[in-house]
Amino acid sequence: MTITRSVIKGCGSYLPEKILTNHDLEEMVDTSNEWIFQRSGIKERRIAADNEFTSDMAIKAAKQALENSGYLGDDIDGVIVATTTPDETFPSVAVKVQTTLGTKRGPTFDVQAVCSGFVYALSVADSFIKTGIAKRMLVIGAEKMSSIVDWTDRRTCVLFADGAGAVIIESEENSQGTINDRGIISSHLHANGKHREILKTSGGVSSNGKSGIIEMEGKEVFKYAVKYLSEVVQEVLEYNNIESSQIDWLVPHQANIRIIEGTAKKLNMPMDKVIVTVQKHGNTSAASIPLALAEGVNSGKIKKGDLILIEALGGGLTWGANLIRV
Ligand code: UT7
Repeated sequence: MTITRSVIKGCGSYLPEKILTNHDLEEMVDTSNEWIFQRSGIKERRIAADNEFTSDMAIKAAKQALENSGYLGDDIDGVIVATTTPDETFPSVAVKVQTTLGTKRGPTFDVQAVCSGFVYALSVADSFIKTGIAKRMLVIGAEKMSSIVDWTDRRTCVLFADGAGAVIIESEENSQGTINDRGIISSHLHANGKHREILKTSGGVSSNGKSGIIEMEGKEVFKYAVKYLSEVVQEVLEYNNIESSQIDWLVPHQANIRIIEGTAKKLNMPMDKVIVTVQKHGNTSAASIPLALAEGVNSGKIKKGDLILIEALGGGLTWGANLIRV
């Protein structure tokens, strides 16, 4: 029996021009390059220009993904953008991408799961493909986190950053549905709203009419990140009945090198099988996985046929993972 799988056809990324280094931050708040690097692994990050919006970054990343897939805008049935920092409260960033790229009139909307947004969006797009709603989807993670950072709060302003990454996924009808077949093999999505206070913004449109700024209890989030990410990667292994040694690459959300190392250790994976971009990208929330994926694929590290595991945890708390044969 054959089944439908969603296969990655192309990846793209975009980073704003402006580089903000740890040394630059030393001039802005009471911090040091050593503290930031030792606690998070970050050396520098990109910050969007004032007149550069989330949609601008999303469109640039999407254009590159289209180019790498060999498709044009109107070959794409729908667009899902994972973002916490849309240009406007509504309409979505996705409809801006649609009109600019000329994608079809299929499902086009934004997904809000903060740093887990890309894992959620990819899983939703995969469901549309598997159920025949779409044949080809553009999935983007795009964020202008700098617009919701409190630039006087050293606990958060040294961590977050801007950027966008995109993938094109396409229906492949003749998959045997095994671990050896290409495509998204499994999706694992979770949330626990009990932890919503430890990572949030200080407001929102229906409460105080503002978008709010990031407030984070870093140590608490760290603790749950290690716990829930360990659980979800174990769930992926058990669900698919595989050993971690079968995974070629771990492509984690890039929040903190210590969290990434913790998950790799849990999987017994050496760090040279992990795509790490946190040192130069910082935490770009929903954009971090597609940015890392694009770097892995477009640099030739991740090759066609490789088995990859992507995973993320973010505000909510939300967390999740996908096992994918590229
Ligand atoms: O992407 C969504 C999910 N987010 C995450 O996964 C982030 C999870 N959390 C983390 O990555 C880490 O908790 C942080 C990098 C945010 C912080 O690292 P930490 O080792 O947990 O440090 P801490 O928050 O316990 O702070 C230690 C000390 C504190 O001083 P006291 O109270 O010990 O005197 C902080 O005030 O470091 C101080 N501190 C700083 N010092 C210099 C906090 N921020 C800074 C700073 N520069 N930027």
